[in-house]
Amino acid sequence: MLQTLKSPATDLDKFRLRRFVQRLVELGEVVIYQDPIALAELSATIAATPKAILFKDAGPDHLEMVAAVSGSRRRLAAAFGVDERQVAHEYMRRLGNAQPVIEVPSEVAPVHQVVQTGDAVDLTRLPFHLQHEYDGGVYISAGIDYAVDPVTGKRNVGCRRLMLRSRDTMRANLTDASDLKLMYLACLERGGRLPVSYVVGSHPLDYLAATQKQPVDEFALVGTLRGEPVPMVRSVSNNILVPADAEVVIEGYFDELGYREMEGPYGEFYGYYGKMHIDPVFHVTAITMRTDALHQTVLHAGRFVSRMDSANFASLNAEVGAWRLLRAARIEPTAINFTLASNGRQHARVALKRGAPGQARLAIAALFALPTVKHAFIVDEDVDVFCDEEMEWAMAVRFRADSDLVVATDMPGFYADPAADQTGRVTKAGFDLTAPVGQPDAIEFRRAYAPATATAAPRFNRVVDALNASPMHFGQILAAMGSSDGREIALELDVLRKRGVLTRLPNGEWALKDKQQ
Ligand SMILES: Cc1cc2nc3c(=O)[nH]c(=O)nc-3n(C[C@H](O)[C@H](O)[C@H](O)COP(=O)(O)O)c2cc1C
Repeated sequence: MLQTLKSPATDLDKFRLRRFVQRLVELGEVVIYQDPIALAELSATIAATPKAILFKDAGPDHLEMVAAVSGSRRRLAAAFGVDERQVAHEYMRRLGNAQPVIEVPSEVAPVHQVVQTGDAVDLTRLPFHLQHEYDGGVYISAGIDYAVDPVTGKRNVGCRRLMLRSRDTMRANLTDASDLKLMYLACLERGGRLPVSYVVGSHPLDYLAATQKQPVDEFALVGTLRGEPVPMVRSVSNNILVPADAEVVIEGYFDELGYREMEGPYGEFYGYYGKMHIDPVFHVTAITMRTDALHQTVLHAGRFVSRMDSANFASLNAEVGAWRLLRAARIEPTAINFTLASNGRQHARVALKRGAPGQARLAIAALFALPTVKHAFIVDEDVDVFCDEEMEWAMAVRFRADSDLVVATDMPGFYADPAADQTGRVTKAGFDLTAPVGQPDAIEFRRAYAPATATAAPRFNRVVDALNASPMHFGQILAAMGSSDGREIALELDVLRKRGVLTRLPNGEWALKDKQQ
């Protein structure tokens, strides 16, 4: 049931973008760019830093604008207020705790501090900019659309890029499969328009809600991810509810004339351009914003896909999907990571507890069912799936191509895979990077790490007493003697050797001859 409460008693800054950017500044995650910068120069400057970037003076209107707010797992962790490793778990926890919508009156809605309608509507005062070298025009890519199905009343939220067309019209990509597209196609069949309000300038959690495809009230989903009810206000010209704490809203409608103009090309999330396609036209009926609106942009493609907001949203969404899928298949991973450079979708890394034989293959088979997963990498839990170096190490020492590679041909690929064949099929591969089942606990298969640094309290005064208790590796003798050096232990061992009472065990422990086990 849709719940709409009326209450102005809500903190309308808590989830505003500017507040979150301040938090990122405190965390050292933001480059602050003080100098004036032309809109056409924004993209190259954004692409040149791995951090988020806050422009204090963008374009001829001297706008404040922020980019790459969600461009790293650390930033998304800050959005959830948890440790980086806990983000997916916190995300799942919130999804299980649905929140309602609170409707607030226009007078208290910060996003209604400035209202432009009629002739005052001028999209060229907003920072549309050229984002990738061969894009078909200037874009606002940070748009989150709020729409209500005119017949069913279903409330939908999604992200959509917006291409400037004229002072009061834009083009939007409504070609890829989406709920908004279905809603619009149904409107076209009835010969009607689809009212939509685009929010520009949102908290990362609102984006995550927008990238979910859930059979639920997606307006409320925004609150669900925030962990508290979302305060919303009715748009001034089309009656659609939008978050009252947004930075900017572009209100209007997709017209009844349908698909008729070329949109794109546009740098896509997988790093190539998406081709042009025919899309509808959006008519703007009002623009509303905060008096100190912070504008937002997200680059979608670039040399480093891992820095893109969309790769970061996708990675987190994919991890949540994989946790659910694997648990449903009765596999309990210890960690899951979808790599950002594979646009957060295509490379799945899963760590499993060592145990039942065949678990790695089972996990690979399950992961292949996810449409976007093309390559799955399964490791033991001692390997950190978030660490490229450790994964590379596991590939080098625990993988044999003749026995550990699972290949599935003719699998349906995900819709945008540039490597898919004419029929959209791909070959999927699973890499079992786990140590062989039944591998003995021999010294040559133990991972070699630096010894612990902390010196323990001595448990023995003489090495002979320590070894009398049990055989020990050299480092264990050090710990048992409370030594922070080790050379004196070597000398004591040599005394025992000369007395003929010392021996070595196959795994390298030192032992007393009459204590050998
Ligand atoms: C920054 C960003 C921009 C996006 N732009 C588009 C777009 O222009 N068109 C589109 O169909 N999907 C786009 N997406 C993906 C959709 O937002 C996503 O598939 C969403 O789940 C669709 O929502 P819906 O099915 O509820 O309408 C974008 C995603 C992100 C993160």
